[in-house]
Amino acid sequence: FKDCFDSGEIRKFRELMMYYECAMLEVKTKLDVLNKELALKKSRNPFESIKCRIKTPESIVEKLARRGIEFSVDNIEKELNDIAGISVICSFPDDIYELIDYLLEQDDIRLIAIKDYIKNPKPNGYRSVHLIIEVPIFLTDMKKPMRVEVQFRTIAMDFWASLEHKLKYKKNIKKAEDISEQLFYCAELISQLDARMQQIRDKIETTEAE
Ligand code: GTP
Ligand code: MG
Repeated sequence: FKDCFDSGEIRKFRELMMYYECAMLEVKTKLDVLNKELALKKSRNPFESIKCRIKTPESIVEKLARRGIEFSVDNIEKELNDIAGISVICSFPDDIYELIDYLLEQDDIRLIAIKDYIKNPKPNGYRSVHLIIEVPIFLTDMKKPMRVEVQFRTIAMDFWASLEHKLKYKKNIKKAEDISEQLFYCAELISQLDARMQQIRDKIETTEAE
């Protein structure tokens, strides 16, 4: 990594990564605030856990190379949307849409792209909602809009995605087609489970209200 760059470019890279880190914290705080407020209103948390990560230099290099883009700090900022990534794990599918609505209502958040893989699952069965948003960070001498990827899924969808991710990297599996079919079937089961758990929750909540 250091061989490809002079010290000026390395300094610029470190600076850019610091900006992404700040933007990620900004969005995480917004979600934490929503979680606290909604928890008090509803007596339950809209999300179970939240994880943040900055893409590693290795994986940045690999992604640019894979897309045939020349490696430069400017290109990283221009071409990649997922340097700063947040994953939010919710209890129920409708919590996801509620959180997204409240987040996007905020006047300093700009929606760049949304991929709803819950309404339109990937062919392999993958479910999740991915947002690319832009959030400003306030530095000593400027205000800079930065992009952050936020992935929302339920505990059940996350369970499927983690295992599918692990299995995908096991090479030379025999009967690959059969395995894909079974994973797809599991994704369908999980989606039905999510819907049923949500129904149970609704039943409990309306009973409580009586
Ligand atoms: P990337 O080059 O991977 O970023 O793909 P993309 O730009 O087309 O973005 P997309 O929103 O489809 O996927 C981004 C991220 O979602 C991936 O890096 C994974 O973390 C996750 N993801 C997407 N598809 C799958 C999948 O089929 N299985 C699992 N386990 N995770 C997925
Ligand atoms: Mg990605």
